[in-house]
Amino acid sequence: MKTYEPFQIKDLALKNRIVMPPMCMYSATDAIPTDFHLLHYGARALGGAGLIIVEATGILPEGRISDNCLGLWKDEQIPAFARLVDQVHRFGAKIGIQLNHAGRKCVASVEKIYAPSAIIFSPDESYRNPAEMSLDDIASVTHAFAAAAGRALEAGFDVVEIHGAHGYLINQFLSPVSNQREDTYGIDLEGRSRFLQEVVRVVRTRWPTEKPLFLRVSAHDYVPGGMTVDQMIQIIETIKAEVDLIHVSSGGVTPVMPHSFPGYQIPFAEIIRKACMIPTIAVGLITTLEMIEETIGNNRADLVALGRELLRNPFFPLLEAKKHGVSLPWPKPYERAF
Ligand SMILES: Cc1cc2nc3c(=O)[nH]c(=O)nc-3n(C[C@H](O)[C@H](O)[C@H](O)COP(=O)(O)O)c2cc1C
Repeated sequence: MKTYEPFQIKDLALKNRIVMPPMCMYSATDAIPTDFHLLHYGARALGGAGLIIVEATGILPEGRISDNCLGLWKDEQIPAFARLVDQVHRFGAKIGIQLNHAGRKCVASVEKIYAPSAIIFSPDESYRNPAEMSLDDIASVTHAFAAAAGRALEAGFDVVEIHGAHGYLINQFLSPVSNQREDTYGIDLEGRSRFLQEVVRVVRTRWPTEKPLFLRVSAHDYVPGGMTVDQMIQIIETIKAEVDLIHVSSGGVTPVMPHSFPGYQIPFAEIIRKACMIPTIAVGLITTLEMIEETIGNNRADLVALGRELLRNPFFPLLEAKKHGVSLPWPKPYERAF
């Protein structure tokens, strides 16, 4: 089956097409991975996922979504991540990390939050008014993305994924809903893409060319005047020389929830793959091997991510292979299960 065929991207060889997408566990202590993270990600490696992408990790304290999120803004944080990388490698999967800045969606207890424009995310009382970023703020956040990528390399990660989706800082710059700047970082699509382009360029100076760099995007804002997949295609065209794969999600710039149904984001992954001629990951309410096989087999995406399904069932990749007559090695101590 196509799902269990290997996939090579730059120096990364995946044993199958099943990805665990980043999912915040809000279980970090002092922003570093704990025993919980070793078990949580280790279990999905043991269960047969080809690639695990660690949850949104703040590149600065105020870049975290919450006080319980992971962070990689100082060198002292590297060893705990290196342990996690070793654990996942030992149990047979490759591992990436999603680097994020939350911008106006930060609810961590930090002094000040900031965003492209001083527009609050939601009237819900957990959100605060962000300050509009100065050019110095922009430069220092860009630098922090690069420094975090350097630390991810030192920790041994196979992939860096830049979080450009779900209404976090990069997405806030891209969308006209949250970016109403009148300088070179706003006004039109070219201006609104500038921050992303600079982040990608500086991350590449610290993340070797032979290693894959992923970008997660929201292909649709689901609000009038918001971004659509056509605009996202134009943006991807400007960075695709330096990015190796697009992880295609949607929504998050406003509190409006997408109307979701099985496979609802697969068409976006397919459109971007074809229009930009770049590998993609499809994600979103994909819960069966048939759906994965249909997506990969019909060249709609190169990889498929299973979020909540892998939370429910870490052994999905191995169990489904067994059910469908694909012979894969199980962890030796578990062989007597059959
Ligand atoms: C508990 C939870 C936490 C999440 N955290 C993140 C995150 O850190 N970064 C991200 O890009 N998406 C995050 N997501 C979105 C997932 O990566 C995925 O795109 C979404 O759950 C849809 O896929 P699914 O239907 O297979 O679960 C999260 C989803 C869940 C359920």
